[in-house]
Amino acid sequence: MKIVLVTGATRGLGLAVARQCISDGYKVVAVGRTMTEELTFLMQQYPDHIVFERYDFSDTAGIHSLAVQITKKYGRPWGLVNNAAIGRDGVLATLHERDIAELIKINIEAPVLLTKYILRSMLMNRGGRIINVSSIIASTGFNGLSVYGATKAALAGFTKSLAREVGKAGITVNTLAPGYMETEMTSALQGDKLESIKRRSPLGHLATVEDAAYAVSYLLSEKSFSVTGTTITVDAGSSC
Ligand SMILES: NC(=O)c1ccc[n+]([C@@H]2O[C@H](COP(=O)([O-])OP(=O)(O)OC[C@H]3O[C@@H](n4cnc5c(N)ncnc54)[C@H](OP(=O)(O)O)[C@@H]3O)[C@@H](O)[C@H]2O)c1
Repeated sequence: MKIVLVTGATRGLGLAVARQCISDGYKVVAVGRTMTEELTFLMQQYPDHIVFERYDFSDTAGIHSLAVQITKKYGRPWGLVNNAAIGRDGVLATLHERDIAELIKINIEAPVLLTKYILRSMLMNRGGRIINVSSIIASTGFNGLSVYGATKAALAGFTKSLAREVGKAGITVNTLAPGYMETEMTSALQGDKLESIKRRSPLGHLATVEDAAYAVSYLLSEKSFSVTGTTITVDAGSSC
């Protein structure tokens, strides 16, 4: 069974990706801080298809050992979905420096380090799939999300150069750019702002975590072997 490591798989998009990966026949290594009821349920339903590794990505110094441990316990991963992230909104002028540092650490430094160490297994396998979860905000912008948007744009940039570095080894690297999806991360976004996002959607609805997970499923599959260094946007057309 091919191993796919999904960060932030305890809820939201990561959990939907984990579910989709199980139905695609992978074994999922779900990484996150807090076990949830939904993840517990999924693990009870498919005990041979999903394991949980508790990790807090603010501990960037331990990421090397995490990658080594995962590889030793479960084998060399075929796929890595860098999904875990935090959203801190607030206008830059009043955003605390510690929030800025945390956003950069969790949303950029941690996935870059995890990719660096998981990539070694993929290079040995001469194949693999890396998916970096960005956001349409990386290219559209959004009032109050300048630092979050910068971290997401950084991941898209990371994708492009890394795709060039590892393509010859049969490893693809792509970005997923979801639009607004209803999750815990966006639960504070209500009222006028939410209404204006809905109004901008040409399809008249917003994308769900399941919609975005289908795109991840494609990017993880053998069928996407000619697709690398690109961004797949799943936003019900909101940014077109
Ligand atoms: N929701 C949207 O509208 C939207 C739109 C565009 C892009 N995205 C992107 O989609 C991805 C998933 O977002 P979501 O909406 O599903 O968010 P979410 O519901 O807040 O889930 C975030 C996940 O990341 C994990 N996480 C956060 N901090 C962590 C840390 N320090 N260490 C380990 N795990 C950590 C959380 O697990 P624990 O808290 O248990 O650790 C959780 O599983 C993110 O990259 C986000 O930027 C979301």
